[in-house]
Amino acid sequence: LHQRLKIEQPTTSANENMHKQPFVIGVAGGAASGKTTVCDMIIQQLHDQRVVLVNQDSFYHNLTSEELKRVHEYNFDHPDAFDTEKLLSYMDKLKHGQAVDIPNYDFKSYKNNVFPARRVNPSDVIILEGILVFHDPRVRELMNMKIFVDTDADVRLARRIRRDTVEKGRDIGTVLDQYSQFVKPAFDDFILPTKKYADIIIPRGGDNHIAVDLIVQHIRTKLGQHDLCKIYPNLYVIHSTFQI
Ligand code: ADP
Ligand code: C5P
Repeated sequence: LHQRLKIEQPTTSANENMHKQPFVIGVAGGAASGKTTVCDMIIQQLHDQRVVLVNQDSFYHNLTSEELKRVHEYNFDHPDAFDTEKLLSYMDKLKHGQAVDIPNYDFKSYKNNVFPARRVNPSDVIILEGILVFHDPRVRELMNMKIFVDTDADVRLARRIRRDTVEKGRDIGTVLDQYSQFVKPAFDDFILPTKKYADIIIPRGGDNHIAVDLIVQHIRTKLGQHDLCKIYPNLYVIHSTFQI
């Protein structure tokens, strides 16, 4: 039995990729399930890392004047409501180390070009959050970790009523009509079926501190592996092959 050790240095491009590719986390779940709250908790715990948050809301299509006139008939919970091509191109730039200007979305005027746009610099961790971020396979493929925030429908509705009446200035009748006509059916048809793609399902959202702690630990482990390559840029890969 001869043991042959083959020592190989990674190619330059493989090495560069290891340095530059950020760790991408997708956070999906129903509206008002606590996605933003969970993301904020993760970001807070990773304060010593470069982390950026990208919201799928920023990629809502702008409405035509006809659609604006009949906005109560518009389905904001359907996958077609989002400009996924634009989201993909922005994520691609970020993944390859370029800064992007992410549009701000205004829920009151239904416009996604509220000035100024938010400058997002390339980072170690990118969190992509939104109701339908697991819907398109090309977006899912960008993600190194997928989290689904799972909160009961009655809790989501109660939070939504409070948020939309207080923060968005909508009347309760409009909120309830939108919920039964669009939000609930779209959750059942498009959002819930994407739960199967999740690596981690968080029950009770931001109340679940243990889940968030475990997620942060895992991210730190993954970032540590990246850091090893930064500390030892000439790290050699050793293959061991056996011959009889
Ligand atoms: P999403 O991003 O999924 O829409 P948010 O994190 O923005 O959800 O939460 C929706 C609303 O519910 C917000 O007004 C938020 O303050 C509230 N909320 C979120 N998590 C909790 C919680 N654990 N307890 C009480 N209120 C919460
Ligand atoms: O932040 P969250 O994930 O809750 O945002 C998604 C929700 O925002 C969707 O359920 C959609 O109905 C709602 N929305 C809205 N008005 C808009 C855009 C989105 O009520 N102009």
